[in-house]
Amino acid sequence: MDSSSPFLYVGCQVGAERALKAEVQQEWSEFRPAFSKPGFVTFKAPPQLRGIAELDLRSAFARCSGESLGSVQGEGPEGLAERFWQQVGDQKFQQLHVWCSARPANFKGGTDADEHDPLLSVVAALQQKCPAGLSPGETSKLAGTPDESSTPPVAASGHPFGINAVAQTGQGVLSCIIVDRTRWWIGFHKAGSLPSRWPGGVYPVRLPEHAVSRAYAKMAEALAWSRMPVVSGDLCAELGCAPGGSCQLLLERRLRVLGIDPAEMDPGVLRLPGFRHIRKRGREVKKREFREVRWLLADSNVAPTHTLDTVQDIVTHRDANIRGLLLTLKLTTWGHATSLPEFLARIRSWGYRYVKARQLAHGGQEVCVFALRRQGLLRLGGQARRKGLQQR
Ligand SMILES: C[S@@+](CC[C@H](N)C(=O)[O-])C[C@H]1O[C@@H](n2cnc3c(N)ncnc32)[C@H](O)[C@@H]1O
Repeated sequence: MDSSSPFLYVGCQVGAERALKAEVQQEWSEFRPAFSKPGFVTFKAPPQLRGIAELDLRSAFARCSGESLGSVQGEGPEGLAERFWQQVGDQKFQQLHVWCSARPANFKGGTDADEHDPLLSVVAALQQKCPAGLSPGETSKLAGTPDESSTPPVAASGHPFGINAVAQTGQGVLSCIIVDRTRWWIGFHKAGSLPSRWPGGVYPVRLPEHAVSRAYAKMAEALAWSRMPVVSGDLCAELGCAPGGSCQLLLERRLRVLGIDPAEMDPGVLRLPGFRHIRKRGREVKKREFREVRWLLADSNVAPTHTLDTVQDIVTHRDANIRGLLLTLKLTTWGHATSLPEFLARIRSWGYRYVKARQLAHGGQEVCVFALRRQGLLRLGGQARRKGLQQR
C-alpha cells in the first residue's frame, strides 16, 4: 500500500489564504499547510487519507479543491505544456479546467476574447502539446449562463475532453492552475457539488452591459450556488439594494422586490415592474412592510454584526414569515473571518436549520450566507422550477 502523503490543493480569493488555512485546520486538524501563493494553497494530508479528489472540505473560503498532482516549472507556455502532460501521465479525466490562481477563473474564450488574456496562450499550448491519445475539445465560450455541455471535440481521434466547460456530476476534472508565468500547478478532482463543476470554482457569468452594478453577477452566482428555491412572484426584500444590480437580476427572474437603502437607486431599476424602494436604513423600516416578504437578502456595507442585528429584528418579529435568507456579511477586517462559526450559529438560533456559507467569486471581501427554515424547501423549489415556474 502506498504510504506517501497525498496533497490537497485549494483555490480561494486573493487575500483569503490565512482565513482559509485557519478554517481548514479547524475542521481538518491533520492537514498541514504547504505551498501558498495569492489565491492558492496546498495542504499535506495524512498518509492514510483516501478519496481526496472527492473530499468536501465544508469550507466557506475554499473556492475549489482537489488532489494536487504537483507542479511544473519552466519558461514559456510550450515547454510548460509539454511538462504538464508528462506529469499528468495516464490520469483519466473528461474535463480540463485552466485557471489563474490570482484572478477570477472566467475564461475569456470565443469571439470577444481579450487577446492579452494569458489563459489564451496557455490553452493554445496545452491543445498543441496534447498527447496523441487525447482529443481536446473547443474551449467553452463564456456566455451569460453556464455552458452545461462538455464541448466534445469536432472529430475526436482520441479520448475526448472539454476545456473550461461546466463539468457534469461525476466527471473527472483535471486542473491546470497558473500560479505564475513560470509555474503551473496540476490538480484533479471529481465533480460533485455545483461549484466543483465550475472552472476554478468560479460561476461562469459575464456581467451584461445593462447591469447597473457588479452585484448583478454576484446575485446570479448566489442564486446558483444556494439553489434558493424562489418561484416566480415571490416577494424578496433586499437591505442595501442601491444602485440596484441584484434587484435587476431578481426582477428579471420574475420575482417581486422590496429594495431598502438610504442611497439613490438607478432610475432604470426604479421603473422596473415589481420593484418598490423604501429609502431608509434597514432598522428604520416598519416591521409590517416585511409581512409578505418570503426571502430576505442583505448586501449593506456595514460590519457583519450590524447586518445580523438588523436581520434578527426582522426575522424574529411575530408578523414575519421569512423562509430563507441570503446575506452578504462584509468582512470589514479579515479578523471577522474567525467569527464566522458564531455568525452561523446565531442564524441557526433564529430557526434557520439549514445554513451554509461561501465566499463568492463575484463578491468582494465578504462571505455569502444562505439560510433556510426547512431543507425540504430545496426539493420543493427544484420541483417548482422543473414545472417552469421560475425562469433561470
Ligand atoms: C455594496 S452596496 C449594495 C449594492 C447593491 N446590492 C446592488 O445590487 O447594487 C451597499 C449599500 O448598502 C447601503 N447601506 C449601508 N447601510 C445600510 C443600512 N443600514 N440599511 C440599508 N442599506 C444600507 C449603502 O447605502 C449602499 O448602497
